[in-house]
Amino acid sequence: MNVATTIQQVREQVRAWKKAGLTVGLVPTMGYLHEGHASLIKTSVSRCDRTVVSVFVNPTQFGPNEDLESYPRDFDRDSALCESLNADLVFHPEVSEMYAEDAATYVEILSDMPKQLCGKTRPIHFRGVCTVVAKLFNIVQPDRAFFGEKDAQQLAVIRRMVRDMSYGIEIVGCPIVREPDGLAKSSRNTYLNAEERKAALCLSRAVGLGKRMVLDGERDARCVVNAMTNLIMQEPLAKIDYVQAVDGVTMEPTDDIYQDVLVAMAVYIGKTRLIDNFSVRL
Ligand code: PAJ
Repeated sequence: MNVATTIQQVREQVRAWKKAGLTVGLVPTMGYLHEGHASLIKTSVSRCDRTVVSVFVNPTQFGPNEDLESYPRDFDRDSALCESLNADLVFHPEVSEMYAEDAATYVEILSDMPKQLCGKTRPIHFRGVCTVVAKLFNIVQPDRAFFGEKDAQQLAVIRRMVRDMSYGIEIVGCPIVREPDGLAKSSRNTYLNAEERKAALCLSRAVGLGKRMVLDGERDARCVVNAMTNLIMQEPLAKIDYVQAVDGVTMEPTDDIYQDVLVAMAVYIGKTRLIDNFSVRL
């Protein structure tokens, strides 16, 4: 496995692979890899001839009061994990390699989509995500790119960007990977102390409750959301940012449950903001 720190190194490697007729998969990450990321890498390795993993904590997607500085990092561990999973190249650029000091060009979806859900408290987040993912697409020029359903709005936003910008890249969504007790794996789980770690289970319990209600035939999204909200409110350490049902493609709020509706939440456990969701499968 190779590690590239410059855009040029990536381009040279990918050019050689394409010349040999090989397909290329890209797994964009911010590092501090866990089994959620590993499942994306494994899926790419199984579906593409070569797999590129990017490890880059992207400053443009963090708001001024967010956790850019404290975001956990351990590149040695990350690259060892990528190697053990048979990734072929890890792209680990410095911020200065990705952004010129006077960089002023962004990719931004101007519909309401990035303003819904997480966009309400993170107004510049999806502009930063789209911009860095567009840059990674331009640098790597993959055939397929792999994203987790854990960040369901991000996945929807990327699909929309790919459609609107005519990227010839297949976007593959991968299921949420959870801890044995249900907590969705996240690099941010490391922020939780023992008490908060227990409290954080209210998210996956709410997901379980919502799923069960839909399975039992509930088709009023407000009832599902209310029940999930009440469950989370039982937890004293939890502060709800949002619990909402939205259309799975447009992210527009909906009062009805139908195929592919996304029921998503963001909840603060102490100072740590966690997200979880499920998509309706009827
Ligand atoms: P990061 O949070 O590191 O996540 C990288 C990818 O791993 C995302 O597609 C995310 O949805 C997926 N992922 C994280 N936890 C997961 C879990 N428990 N189960 C399944 N997939 C999971 O998302 C980002 O980085 C950034 O916004 C990025 C797309 C890299 C742009 O900077």
